[in-house]
Amino acid sequence: MAKIIDGKQISQEIKNEVKEEVAKLKEAGKEVCLAVILVGADPASAVYVRNKKRACEYTGIRSLSYELPEETTEEELLALIEKLNQDKKVHGILVQLPLPKQIDESKVIAAISKDKDVDGFHPENVGAMVTGTLGFLPCTPAGIIELLKRSEVEIAGKNCVVVGRSNIVGKPAAMLLLREHGTVTITHSRTQNLREITKQADILVVAIGKKEFIDDSYVKDGAVVIDVGIHRGEDKKLFGDVNFEKVEPLASKITPVPGGVGPMTIAMLMYNCLQSRKRVED
Ligand code: GUN
Repeated sequence: MAKIIDGKQISQEIKNEVKEEVAKLKEAGKEVCLAVILVGADPASAVYVRNKKRACEYTGIRSLSYELPEETTEEELLALIEKLNQDKKVHGILVQLPLPKQIDESKVIAAISKDKDVDGFHPENVGAMVTGTLGFLPCTPAGIIELLKRSEVEIAGKNCVVVGRSNIVGKPAAMLLLREHGTVTITHSRTQNLREITKQADILVVAIGKKEFIDDSYVKDGAVVIDVGIHRGEDKKLFGDVNFEKVEPLASKITPVPGGVGPMTIAMLMYNCLQSRKRVED
C-alpha cells in the first residue's frame, strides 16, 4: 500500500506560509500585486485564471485582471505587458497560455520583465534555473520538488526518470531533480524500451499527456510516483497519466489525480509573487 502524497494539503501549507508573510509585508505598508492576463475565451484557461485569482484573494495578494478579446493583436498585448513592466506597483505578470494563433507566444514570454516573470518561462529565468542562479522557477516543476521534499523523499543520488520533455514540465522537472543531485534520465514518445528505463526509477515523474499510460509494468517495487497528467473521462471523472489502481499497490508513495501535483502549481505561483515583492528594494 502506497502512502498518498497529499498535494491538496501541502499546497495549503504553502499558501498559508505565503499568506503569513504577505500579511507581515502589509503591516510594513508593502503590498504584493500580480497582474493576470487572459486572451480569448478558452474554457480551461478561464478556470485556471479564476483559480489563480482566488488563490491571490486567499493569500492577500492583490490581483489585477485583464481579460482581452480573442482578436487582440500581438502589438496590443505587448503594449499592455510593457505598461505592466513599468508599473512599480506590479510584482508579477502572468499571461495565461495558450494564446490565440495570431500572437507569437515566445515573443510575449520574452517581453515580460524577467524580474516579474513569476511563471519562470522567460529565457533568462530558464538560464538561471539551469545554472542554479537567482531567478524564478517554473511553478509545476518547482511544485513537484516541494511535494517530494515535504514528503521526506530523498532525491540526492536516486535514479529519477522523467517521462515527457515539454518546456513547461518535463525538461524543467528534469533540471530541478538534477539540481537536487538526482541521477536523471529524460524519456519521451520516441524512447526505445521505455519500460526498461522506467523500471529503474526510484522516483518516476510522468508528464506525457496520455491518459493512464503508465501501468504496473512500468514501475519498480517501492518507487515514488509523481503524476502530472490531467484528463477528463466521459463522466467528468479526472484521470492522470498513471493508472492509479494498478500502480498504487507497488509504489511506496504516489500522487493522486486530482489532489496531487495540480494544486501545487498555483501555490508555487503565490510563492513566486511573494519572492518577487521581497526582491524589490524600497
Ligand atoms: N498554461 C498551462 N500551464 C500554464 C502555466 O503554468 N502558466 C501559464 N501562464 N499558462 C499555462
